[in-house]
Amino acid sequence: MLSSRSWSVPRFRIACSGQFRRLLSTKHPATVGLSVAHQNVTTSTLVLRASSGSGRLGRLTVGRELAHVRGKKTKTVVNLEDLPQGLLGASSSSSDPLPPPAAEDENDGGPNYPTVVLQARRNMQKFDNCVLLTRVGGFYELYFEHAEEIGPLLNLKVAQKKTSAGPVPMAGFPFFQLDRFLKILVQDFQRHVAIAEEFPNDASEKVKSGGLMHDRRVARIVTPGTLIDENFMDPYANNYVMAIHLPTEVDALSADDGSSGQAQQAQQPAQPADGTVQADAQIGLAWLDLSTGCFFTQPTTLSSLGSILLRVSPREVVLDKELESRIRDHNVFSILAEERYLVTYSPQPQDGEGLQRLSDWAPMLESEIPPQTVDSFTDDEVKAGSLLLHYVKDRLRGLSMKLQPPLRHESMQIMNIDKNSMRSLEIRQTIRDGAFRGSLLHAIRRTVTKSGARLLNEWLSAPSTSLEVINFRQDLVARFIQNEDLRDAIVILLRRTHDSQRLVQKFALNRGEPDDLLRLASTIKATEDIVNLLTSSSSSSLPPSTDTDDPEDCLQSLVKRISLEQPLKLAARIKEAIDEEGLVHQHELEDSEAGEMMALAQEIVKSEGSAEDTAALPKGAAAAASKPKKKPSLKDHYGEDNEVWIMKPYASPGLTRLHSELAHLYQQKVELTEALRARLSASSLTLKWTPGLGHICHVKGKDARNTTATRGTLSSSRTTRSFHQPEWTTLGELLDKCRFQIRSEEQRVFNSLREQVILCLVKLRRNAAVLDELDIVTSFARLALEQNLVRPVLTPSQQTVIVGGRHATVEGGLAEQGRTFQRNDLYLNGPSGRIWLITGPNMAGKSTFLRQNALIIILAQIGCYVPADYAELGIVDAIFSRVGSADNLYRDQSTFMVEMLETASILRQATSRSFVVMDEIGRGTTPEDGTAVAFAAIHHLVHVNKCRALFATHFHKVADLVAEQGMSTTVEDGGGSSSTGAVEMYCTDVQEDEYGGFVYVHKLRKGVNRQSHALKVARLAGLPESAIRVAQQVLAKSGVETKSEE
Ligand SMILES: Nc1ncnc2c1ncn2[C@@H]1O[C@H](COP(=O)(O)OP(=O)(O)OP(=O)(O)O)[C@@H](O)[C@H]1O
Ligand SMILES: [Mg+2]
Repeated sequence: MLSSRSWSVPRFRIACSGQFRRLLSTKHPATVGLSVAHQNVTTSTLVLRASSGSGRLGRLTVGRELAHVRGKKTKTVVNLEDLPQGLLGASSSSSDPLPPPAAEDENDGGPNYPTVVLQARRNMQKFDNCVLLTRVGGFYELYFEHAEEIGPLLNLKVAQKKTSAGPVPMAGFPFFQLDRFLKILVQDFQRHVAIAEEFPNDASEKVKSGGLMHDRRVARIVTPGTLIDENFMDPYANNYVMAIHLPTEVDALSADDGSSGQAQQAQQPAQPADGTVQADAQIGLAWLDLSTGCFFTQPTTLSSLGSILLRVSPREVVLDKELESRIRDHNVFSILAEERYLVTYSPQPQDGEGLQRLSDWAPMLESEIPPQTVDSFTDDEVKAGSLLLHYVKDRLRGLSMKLQPPLRHESMQIMNIDKNSMRSLEIRQTIRDGAFRGSLLHAIRRTVTKSGARLLNEWLSAPSTSLEVINFRQDLVARFIQNEDLRDAIVILLRRTHDSQRLVQKFALNRGEPDDLLRLASTIKATEDIVNLLTSSSSSSLPPSTDTDDPEDCLQSLVKRISLEQPLKLAARIKEAIDEEGLVHQHELEDSEAGEMMALAQEIVKSEGSAEDTAALPKGAAAAASKPKKKPSLKDHYGEDNEVWIMKPYASPGLTRLHSELAHLYQQKVELTEALRARLSASSLTLKWTPGLGHICHVKGKDARNTTATRGTLSSSRTTRSFHQPEWTTLGELLDKCRFQIRSEEQRVFNSLREQVILCLVKLRRNAAVLDELDIVTSFARLALEQNLVRPVLTPSQQTVIVGGRHATVEGGLAEQGRTFQRNDLYLNGPSGRIWLITGPNMAGKSTFLRQNALIIILAQIGCYVPADYAELGIVDAIFSRVGSADNLYRDQSTFMVEMLETASILRQATSRSFVVMDEIGRGTTPEDGTAVAFAAIHHLVHVNKCRALFATHFHKVADLVAEQGMSTTVEDGGGSSSTGAVEMYCTDVQEDEYGGFVYVHKLRKGVNRQSHALKVARLAGLPESAIRVAQQVLAKSGVETKSEE
């Protein structure tokens, strides 16, 4: 209904600024726009009713709802007797009572506005937090304060509509521009938009509403989190809406700015910033993507919320309405406000609304929740899910939906990457400017489908901790590295597929158009080709694998997950039924009509409006209008005898019969034309239909003069004449009826196809998921070849061995400048220590080393190959990364406070299976305090967390303390005797030559480097020489040796 490519027959009406003029035009002969002939449409309604009813085929679009509209003036004159042709419509016999005079009953004692305006006002009151768009004919319109406030924001001309109750501000745009304006309202302004659509009134409703053909009810409320198939959706990211259920007792609690909550061992009671006691009270989360039907739940704690929000990145967060008044005092508010999440308050479903229990969700799900998982859902998860479904259901206003059964995030084996690490490791965007370019995702994304890209995004935010999953993915990558032809062929086929996750979901939401069916069919066909390719690439035809255990097996198990039988039948049925050529013509027609409409708008504004009005018209209108006037339109070209059909005549027995009937009627028309020409001696006679006059005989030239004796002249000029002829009127009605029946039958066939898609839903989604995985693994294979990556060996141990490691993004950056990256090794646990304490000069590569290892681990655990010569990695349950410094003044946190909050969160949460990266802890305060805090942190990591960690610092005193306390594996400075500690000392360096030149040695070596060479960096950065000299003097006084060149 909201699609600009509506496949129902479009009717256009134009509203123009200031002096509204509207046009009713039609491309469907069954829709009559008589109103265009009259100034006063009320009169035309009466005329029609007096003659023979309210509309041909019950679709005549005239009546009181247009009473506020002025039609386009023409010279045609209509007399009552001249309208004999059949106006069908069972409910519209001439004995029908006339509509009541005005719609006062719609108006609860307020001003006497026209009914459309009253309907809009009522909807505005009912949906008071939304911008209301009201469909009126071919337009969406805004009224009253919405027109005044929103009109200018949308660059729409705001006009004053004259009504008997005074002027009403109003603005509007053609229906096919809905997506464009929704984008601005929903995406850019983050507004909720209620869309009131037209619903045909039946006879009694029509009387009640004062003769209105349509009721206008809000059919959907579009919000940033509840987009379905809008063109402006980001194709590369999921569009989640998340509900948070907070138990009431959480009110009193506080949350720190902590990180993930998976590993909750080794914690001490937290001391958050505001000093209140942190209790990790359980809260419930539920989130879904309406555009794909993905649905998740997760129990968690308030302290982990920030990280989960960052991972899921919901476009909208839903909270219980009850919290609205108290939210400012609530800690969840500050968490949400920090990232500026859009928050919506919605009531919990009440008793009787049927969503409170898990079992109540069934009607909204495509399949049952597996019985074995039903019991695992916590109360908080169910409450969050109920709140979410209730909210989404309300936004969809009764549109049925089929979601995938909820997956419990808790039961998935995934690595936790907390909020700070996600940022500092620049996984999806860079820290500095939040750009995609420069992020890890950008560096590794080679997927060719949009849904594949979305899945990669998800994998990267939640790498796996399952050896089985990782090995399976790696096997596939290995397979596609080995077999280049297979890889390339698969990629070509994947490019032929469409975004079936989102496509299928359209049908699950009872939307979807014939084009979508065709896309689905071609995706199914491509899937079949992919299956054939994978199946035929049997192990026998390949060289034995060198680095996979059982490569053919992984392809086979992928193929096994695809079910094709039912989808192929569906695809065949779609191809049999839909006339692709007809569809193309239909779109050409729609485009041409849209262009005509825009041109008309332009023309009217030009003649009646100002230059400013013209500028306010949307782009395209100007272009359309500037075209030379009146080329024969496509509509004319196809004419009524060349109607465009979108189903093939053999799509159903009914269609076959109707098409042959239609052909027969056309033949009769030809014969009648001949007969009338002969009878009236008028060789120019043609049989026509016009909106104003109905079925007419049209003659021209001398025939126009010769046929004056013919009865019932409707219009005449010097050269043409139109009149009615009962035989043509009767035949014309039969033609109309037949066409109407064909349209109805096409709709029925389409609906049955849509039903079949829904029956295939689960299979289609499962197939789509396999294609997404294939897209990622083939992209990993290409990436591995392109960047010389190796397959890491994943193990259940707690060792990490990386030989010749590189940084996934820095290496590329250096290469662009013609510089080479210095590879570095890492050995954690096993014979060496579990923690590396890294010292060294500024700019010599400490931070790069820290991050590159964290990134390698993440890449490995999503199944990707890694930038190293060799890697053996014990699976990591969580990555924590504390790097750089940032203050958060908004949350009343100084630089050092942020540093300590992040450090606290790591020390409280890291388990022995975690991997921690700590860069320059303690640098935000005095060297003494900083050293103490840094040492305390490493001490905690060694003795309590017992995790693998990389710890970089400029405080070499920390290294001394580590050695003193026996925490080091070796005694520094050639002592030779090795201690049993966990900490290895490594450093980077600067190499100087006798002429004062120097180079950074990015290669790590064992030992401690006590020189930071800070003044070298200062000089490189352009610090004034005088300032450098002062710094040298200070250093000299404090006994620190500075080299002559400094
Ligand atoms: N292994 C490497 N090979 C080549 N160049 C490198 C390497 N590591 C780092 N670099 C270059 O050095 C720059 C500085 O590195 P990095 O920020 O890691 O230094 P740092 O030791 O952390 O410095 P600081 O102590 O000032 O934080 C990087 O931006 C990169 O251009
Ligand atoms: Mg650094």
